This record gives sequence, C-alpha cells and structure tokens, in this order.
Amino acid sequence: MSRKFYITTPIYYVNARPHIGHAYTTIACDTIARRHRLLGDDTFFLTGTDEHGQKIERAAQAAGKTPQQYADEISSEFRKLWQRMGISNDDYIRTTEERHKKRVQTLFRQIRDNGYIYKGTYTGQYCVSDELYVDGAQPGDPCPTCGRITETVHEENYFFKLSAFQDKLLELYANPDFVRPETRRNEVISFVRSGLRDLSISRSTFSWGIPVPDDPKHVIYVWLDALANYITAIGYGSSHAGAQAAFQKYWPADVHMIGKEIVRFHCVYWPAFLLAAGLPLPKAIVAHGWLLFEESKMSKSRGNIVRTETILDVLGADALRYFLLREVVFGQDGSFSFDALVQRYNSDLANGIGNLASRTLTMINRYFKGEVPYPSHTVAKKPADDVVAETARKAIKDFGVLFDQFQFSRALESAWGLIAAVDRYIVENEPWSLGEKQDDESRARLATVLYTSAEALRIATALAHPVIPDATAKIWTQMGLGDIKKLVLADLAWGQLPLGTKLGEISPVFPRADKSAIERMQKMEDQQKPVVEEPKQDSQQEPTPAKLQSVPAMTQSTDSARITIDDFAKVELRVGQVVVAERVPKSDKLLRLEVDLGTEVRQVLAGIAEAYAPETLIGRKVVIVANLAPRKLRGYESNGMIVAASLEGGKPVLASFLEDVPIGARLK
Ligand code: MSP
Repeated sequence: MSRKFYITTPIYYVNARPHIGHAYTTIACDTIARRHRLLGDDTFFLTGTDEHGQKIERAAQAAGKTPQQYADEISSEFRKLWQRMGISNDDYIRTTEERHKKRVQTLFRQIRDNGYIYKGTYTGQYCVSDELYVDGAQPGDPCPTCGRITETVHEENYFFKLSAFQDKLLELYANPDFVRPETRRNEVISFVRSGLRDLSISRSTFSWGIPVPDDPKHVIYVWLDALANYITAIGYGSSHAGAQAAFQKYWPADVHMIGKEIVRFHCVYWPAFLLAAGLPLPKAIVAHGWLLFEESKMSKSRGNIVRTETILDVLGADALRYFLLREVVFGQDGSFSFDALVQRYNSDLANGIGNLASRTLTMINRYFKGEVPYPSHTVAKKPADDVVAETARKAIKDFGVLFDQFQFSRALESAWGLIAAVDRYIVENEPWSLGEKQDDESRARLATVLYTSAEALRIATALAHPVIPDATAKIWTQMGLGDIKKLVLADLAWGQLPLGTKLGEISPVFPRADKSAIERMQKMEDQQKPVVEEPKQDSQQEPTPAKLQSVPAMTQSTDSARITIDDFAKVELRVGQVVVAERVPKSDKLLRLEVDLGTEVRQVLAGIAEAYAPETLIGRKVVIVANLAPRKLRGYESNGMIVAASLEGGKPVLASFLEDVPIGARLK
C-alpha cells in the first residue's frame, strides 16, 4: 500500500507581487513533492494565498482598489507564475474562498466549544506588516521582527488561552524532528519557556476578514485564518463525504515548509490551535533561511526584489530551481546574484549534465547507429568501469539520505559527483579514439565505455528529475526511455538501462549562456523599476532657477560622473509627515522620527538634532528617500532618509514645499 505524503508552502500575502524569495519556498516544496511521487507515495502538495487582514486592506486602499479586487489580481499573478514554472501543486487555496471561510468558522467554534476562547480587552502594540501582537512593547517601539514601528491597538477582542499549552508545547519540541533545523527549534523552546500569554484572536476595528461566528463585529485574527488553510483545503469542516475522506487521509501534514521569520506562528500558535481543537499535529515544520539580494532580505518593502519571470525568460525554470537548491545551504541565508546564477548554470548544467548527455548520446548515435550498445563482461572490461558503477550506487544512496534530511545542496553535490566521475572516465578512456579503430577488442571496449557512460547518465538524470524536471524529461526521451514520470525511483539501481534501446532525437538541453545573459536579466529588472518621464528638451525655454544653481557643479563634473534619468528614477523620493519625533538617547545629533507616508508609518533616524528641536517637527511635511536599504543606527532600524540641504559647517535645513502637498506624493 502506498504511503501518503502531504506538504505545504506558506500561503503568500497578496500585498506584494511574487518574487524569487517566494519562488524559493515553492520550488523546494515542489521538488520534495515530485520526489515523493516518484517514490510511489500518494502525495498532496498545497500552496495558495493569504488575503485577509489589515495589511492587505491598507495595501488595497493605497492602490485605490477594493481588497477583493486587489487580492484577485495578485493571487492570480501567483497562480499564473506557478503554472508557468510547472509547479505541481494539487490545490491552490485562497483564504477569501467560501470553502475556507466556512471551515475557519467551524474551527473557531470547535476551539470555543472546547473552552479555549474568552472575551477581553486588548491594549498593546501591533505590527501590521507582520500581523503580530508584540507583547511587552510600548507605543513607538519597533517590531522585533521587521523593525517597523508598532501601532497601538485598544479594542475588545476574543482571546485564545495560549498559556494553557505551554507544557504540552514543550513536550512536543522534545521530538527533534518536529521543528527543523535545530537553531529554530532552540529559538522556539526558549520563546515558549519564557512564558506564554493568551493571544488575541479577533480584531474589531476593521472588517477585512472572516467574521467571528455569532459575533460578526469581530473578524478572526488573520494568522488563525491563514494557518487554518492547511486543514481547510483538504476538507476539514466540510459536510461532503469526499472532502472528509481526504482530510482523514492526508491530515496531519508531513511537512509544513516555511521561511524562518514565521516560525513562531507555525511552531507555537498553530500546534496550540490544533491541540485546542482536538486535532492531530503536523509531523514536521521545516524553516529555511532567506534569500538575500544586495545583502539584505529580498522583500518588496526594501525594494530589492528579483522577479522570477526575468530568470524564466532568459535561462528557464530548471536553471532557477537548480541554482536555489544547489547554491543555498538549506536552513541558512543565501545570496542571490545574476553572476552566480549564470556561473552555476554554465558549470553544472550546460557543461555538466547537458554536456554529458549530448556527448554520450552523440557518440552512441555515431558509433552504434543510435542503439545502446552491449557492454563486454570479459576482455573489454576494466576496473574503471566498476569505479563508475560504484560511484553511481553511492550517489543513489547518498542522494536519498541527504535529500530526506532537506540537505538539497549536498544531495545535488553527490549526483553531480557522479557526473564529474563519468566526465573523467570518458576523457581517460577516449571513446573517440576507440571509434577510429575497427578491431573487435576496440569495438567491445567502446561499447563498454559508452554503455557505462549512458547508464551513469540515466542514474544522474533520474536523481535530478525532481529538481530539474524539464531538462531531465528531455534527456530521458532522448535516451529512448519514454516518460520519466513512470520511473520508480525506489527501484533505481545500476545496470537497468535496457541494451539495444533506440535513442530518440538529440538536442542540447542547456545551451551555454554568455555574459550577455547577465546584462539582459539586469536590464529586464531595471526596466521594471518605476520610470520617471524624461522632460522634453526645449532650447527656447528659460532655465529654471534650480537649473541655474546646478551649473557651477556641473562644470566640474565629467560625463562619466553624470547619471541618466533611469538612474535618478531608481531613487524613490516621497512626501511624508512627521508623526513622532524624539531624541535618541546618548546621541547629540540623532532624532528618531516616525514619518507617515500614507501607506505606512516609517521609522527614520535623522542627524538633525542640533538644528531642530523634536517638538517643532511634529506635523511637518518632509521629503524622504523611501527606497533606501534599511540600516541600524544605535540599535534602531532606520528605514529611509530625510532630505536636507547641508549648509556650511554641516548645518542641515530640511527640504520643504511652499504649496500644500499630499502625504505620499512622489517627487520626480
Ligand atoms: N502570509 C504569511 C504566511 C501565512 S502561512 C499560514 C506570509 N506571507 S509572505 O508572503 O510574507 O510569505 C512568506 C514566505 O515567503 C516566507 O515564509 C518564505 O517562505 C517566502 N519568502 C518571502 N521572501 C523571502 C526571501 N527573501 N527569502 C526566502 N524566502 C522568502 O508570511
């Protein structure tokens, strides 16, 4: 009987378009799901989008859309991207779907009926970006997770008795497989040991969410709503027999794959909700690290994202899949760069598996009329042949063990070790020289060398299939082996390549990429950034005072020091209004400001304390560089920069406007 295997991605917020950070998690899950299907497991792979909550409501407002319209658009972008990438998810759940909403209400009722929900009043800080209640924080404090300023919430809420689960949760973490890797497990243990407070699980000051059953003034806390997707999608709370059977079959999940920033929600809140509802717990929660770009976490708010489409257009989905799983040590943060991507693509895909496939299959075509030759077991056999076979056997074993421990990079290293071994074997045995000779011994040796190479290629291709499904499916057909999906991975062993197999048509699977690939991808990304319209050149026009002022500086600059309009367009200057201003302790120069940008309130540290008293700044409109990478100053995260003229002696004078300008307006 086949085993079941249920794996999930986090459901992605619809306030940002998909980027390769999201693709990373989805690719990892897709690869695992594919391997399990090849192993014969009855596999269910779920992904989807998280569409409720204050963060989405505000993002929709800022975009001038209703939350539903907004969610529809971005959710469909995620869905289309996964389709384009050939992601093999079995369902796609949206939290605004009726099936989900009803079933979340059922879960809420169940927890309430079991006595774990009570009504109270919450006064405290909340981070809208993380949709997180920040215990113990004071007004103005930054969120410990993202550094943004928390907002004060004072409202009547429903509370969940999280504190009742402290001991049970600690017992769960005794199982080292429940939270992985070890670093995350330790983090969770110390968080829970430090004491759990009851958790507010409803909000009543906005309405974009699922109404609390029997009290629709409240909407259910978005994390309870979102986490429940893992059970609602497979039929929890449904009255249909089919859905109930699916829930019985697939729940509990075998793996919840997540990024490290949402560990607390998955490893503390989620198991507690399930325990309270009397439901079984997931078997493992696996947290990976972040993809960094230009040294910080790739994210929309930092403006340092790379779109997946760019890489798909230039190198294809397999290239991205391979790169992310090979280059990033799973569990740790990893840097992304177009240079590194192209380098890996060329060394491991074009020159690695791609080259092995084309040279081996081309020689079988040339010397054996396209039929896999019979190896000799007698005169033409050499110890080097056994070394390749042994390397292949070891690769099969190691790949499986490492992959199942989520060590994708090392698993791929073992499969590519086999490819390197065959490359060396081919060079040392010179099949092209053997092919020149007609004597029986040379023919027999040639047959053995090409059979050995082709068999090793088959094994490397089978192992790599879950990671690079398109290319390996092509190699499989070129080898005359038919549909790779029919492969039974559990039976993979050396020596199964049928003798006399007729090869299919051969064509390169990974054409080499030259330097222009990097430039093209870079350019495609730059073009996606907001563009400022170029002013019309009009020689008759009087220069504006601003232009006159800039003349002396310009005369000193060389052409290479000038920037293009596109360079300027990269700087996002916006009007903001100071809502909080205070001195930074032990600093003469720094003020800590909270600046309202219309869509969010930003914390910015500004070196203007010697020129401005903090109280004179409240309500003042300022210009802020909104897309500057965040940095830490005296323990505070500064998210942007206030623009000021720097006078002699370094005295700053804040840029301001004579006319009234709306908050959030862009300067260009
Ligand atoms: N909606 C919540 C999750 C709810 S699950 C019940 C959420 N969404 S998110 O859109 O912010 O996506 C978070 C997930 O996207 C991360 O946990 C991670 O899996 C992935 N990533 C987003 N940016 C990433 C990087 N820069 N690097 C790696 N993964 C990233 O949190």
